[in-house]
Amino acid sequence: MNQTLSNNMKQINSIEEYNAQYKQSVQNHDVFWADAAESFSWRKKWDTVLDWNFTEPSVKWFNGAECNLSENCLDRQLATRANQVAIVWEPNDPKEQHRTLTYKQLYDEVCRFANVLKNTGAKRGDRICIYLPMIPEAAIAMLACARIGAIHTVVFAGFSSTSLADRINDCQCNLLITADAFYRGEKKIELKKIVDEALPQTTTIKNCIVYNHRNTAIEMKQGRDLWWSDLMKNASVENKAEAMLSEDPLFILYTSGSTGKPKGILHTTAGYMVYAGYTFKNVFNYQNGEVFFCTADVGWVTGHTYLVYGPLLNGATTIMFEGIPVYPDHGRFWDVVDKHKVNIFYTAPTAIRSLETYGTEIFKTKDLSSLRVLGTVGEPINEEAWHWYDKNAGKGKCPIVDTWWQTETGGILISPIATVTKLKPSFATFPLPGVQPVLMDGQGKEISGNDVEGNLCIKFPWPGMARTIYGNHERFRQTYFSSYPGYYFTGDGCKRDADGYYRITGRVDDVINVSGHRIGTGEIEDAIDEHELVIETAVVGFPHDIKGQGIYAYVICTGKVENEEKLRTEIKAMVTEKIGAFARPDKIQVVKGLPKTRSGKIMRRILRKIAEGDISNLGDTTTLIDPTVVGQIKEGAL
Ligand code: WT7
Repeated sequence: MNQTLSNNMKQINSIEEYNAQYKQSVQNHDVFWADAAESFSWRKKWDTVLDWNFTEPSVKWFNGAECNLSENCLDRQLATRANQVAIVWEPNDPKEQHRTLTYKQLYDEVCRFANVLKNTGAKRGDRICIYLPMIPEAAIAMLACARIGAIHTVVFAGFSSTSLADRINDCQCNLLITADAFYRGEKKIELKKIVDEALPQTTTIKNCIVYNHRNTAIEMKQGRDLWWSDLMKNASVENKAEAMLSEDPLFILYTSGSTGKPKGILHTTAGYMVYAGYTFKNVFNYQNGEVFFCTADVGWVTGHTYLVYGPLLNGATTIMFEGIPVYPDHGRFWDVVDKHKVNIFYTAPTAIRSLETYGTEIFKTKDLSSLRVLGTVGEPINEEAWHWYDKNAGKGKCPIVDTWWQTETGGILISPIATVTKLKPSFATFPLPGVQPVLMDGQGKEISGNDVEGNLCIKFPWPGMARTIYGNHERFRQTYFSSYPGYYFTGDGCKRDADGYYRITGRVDDVINVSGHRIGTGEIEDAIDEHELVIETAVVGFPHDIKGQGIYAYVICTGKVENEEKLRTEIKAMVTEKIGAFARPDKIQVVKGLPKTRSGKIMRRILRKIAEGDISNLGDTTTLIDPTVVGQIKEGAL
């Protein structure tokens, strides 16, 4: 148990090594992944490395083995880095003190909180909802769940009470962990109030553990609400991690699809652990003792894999930043880098584009010399933003890893290997070892050769992949394994250029990517439809300079709308209430009709074009029931 992953997991250090590892991972996948798995600690080794079929689908990695993710993140590190900082918490307000937790301190907190969970009645297999701001307690709660074998489902603290309730109900959580309130920039978010609105819409929650973060006056419901600190005082610091089976569920994370309610993407224990550890170390070329700063929120998968689990599995120091990039000013990211001597910085293209609008003067006063590697995630990065990032943050000397992956993939699948892969701006470049991407044509056939474009599928399992949608395996099969039988379909379009480099072009389904947040158009439509004046809604994405995509809603209303401005304000409030502020439409156009085919399907292609402002060539509209609606929509376009 005193081994450390960073010392013995082989790292890719040259393109030759990448090629060799890639080749082995395809030809001899079991040996390749067993080798990677050896650097973790196991209570019991596996019977088989991989059992799979993509028809049911059923995927099992390291079947028969036993391990614990929390033990691998913490206990395994103590022998060599007990006093090294594991988490640095940087508060929203730079005038407040930052906090650090060493590996030993984090271990103690997690053990104590694991006992709190048990004392509160939680057990292996329970679903526990975590609704917390970006504070170390979020990581402590996640690690404590993993330690006792409970399944965590983290809900981003920007989601509304309705979204929170929906998620709790879908996976029937019996425990909720939250905080009183927090600040994002100057805005105060009263988290516990949102919880109090959500819980009456749920039936399964027995207790709510509340962390006092801002000393805000809140209501504590007797018998239900418990203070984090009271429970911690009475809990022992001794906790032996549960021995979990490889395929035991680890966490559920909700994500939008093109239709219906958000899906509870389920990840399991051993495969996720091996993949998070392996990809963190290789993609970022992580070196022992380095400081890693991922700006994503723990409420998204990036926060799970590359803020918490990947770094801790590798014994890294991970930064948890509570604030926003523009508070108190637009130099905040660089202040954090400077203050904590960050070596590897990982953010979203939307953040880069928004900072770009403020100019580069601010860089003059920041020392960014600690930076060695930069990364991006969440959406395609345009060349201009890439160069700005390279020049101003990286000073032209830091490789930028443009990492493509998804909530469902658990970890990065296509990305440069820092310091190894020759980069091309706006290309995610090559698949990681173990990842076999293919491009599919309209007939469902693999496209061979280079300089081609198609729908991106993966044809072989990787350890970090999702195993199911919680409670709905058929929906899992239908969504990901039915468009191209025998393949995992990503929902993304992709190019492979003449040199074999991959470039992700964006979603090919009805999912839009707003500031790196994925939102199904159907979900926004459902929320808008709840407005009493609205009969029908169609939502599409349009190119947005900063957010990547903006949200454009076309609404049909009953009768004549007296006050369109009022309607727009109300619709925005409705979406904020049903989903969250980040899903608020940028543009709302009241229309008399929508372009529908005879079979009743809305022709979104036309609506997208109009939203883009490209109305010259709308293509074939002859199959529409009433082609004249197109003219009307064009005239009123915003
Ligand atoms: C979708 C997944 C994976 C963590 C954050 C988002 C888009 C993600 C890239 C990239 C182009 C990207 C895809 C993907 N996406 N990374 N480097 N280049 N597009 O996770 O919310 O599950 O969204 O984000 O469209 O399908 P997610």
